[in-house]
Amino acid sequence: MPLRFAVLVSGTGSLLEAMIERELPIQLVLADRQCRGLEIAATARIPRVLLHRKFGPAFDREAYTRDTLALFRAHRIELVAMAGFKTIFASLMFAADAYQMKIVNTHPSLLPAFKGGRAVEEAFAYGVKISGSTIHWANETLDGGPIMAQEAVSRLPEDTIETFRERIKKVERCIYPAFLQKLMA
Ligand code: GRF
Repeated sequence: MPLRFAVLVSGTGSLLEAMIERELPIQLVLADRQCRGLEIAATARIPRVLLHRKFGPAFDREAYTRDTLALFRAHRIELVAMAGFKTIFASLMFAADAYQMKIVNTHPSLLPAFKGGRAVEEAFAYGVKISGSTIHWANETLDGGPIMAQEAVSRLPEDTIETFRERIKKVERCIYPAFLQKLMA
């Protein structure tokens, strides 16, 4: 029996697309906002849920985390992949009786360098010659969970932020689904 597997999206969903192409058995797609990732899930006829809250200073992270946990439990989810998901869960998500070491994330830099949502821009502005992609366990810290795999991507002299980002994402679309497939096996 394949593990019951969920993918979390907030953006363009190209990683989700790559997982679908690779035929990963996805039981649930969760989005925290309206996004193309939800449309991709709809086209692929994967059950999908939009759990949107008003983000900003009044955002109740604990309540959002509890709602997400309840959703995972209702769908009997055993493994989760964040694929461009922009919400950080509260620590209760990562408790031993919840999803500790069960949520995988990918980040477009060689962690621990350039954490956060502007990793590619910041690496580019810093003038790095090499960046890349990191697959790691998610925890309550921002991009701070244990690292499982990394692949380097060179910055070319002619790169713009956009071409650099796209070449990193191309690597992610290759290594992330392959990594998840191995983890499931
Ligand atoms: C990826 O670069 C991933 O590393 C980061 O968000 C991006 C997701 O892209 N966390 P997409 O929405 O799957 O196209």
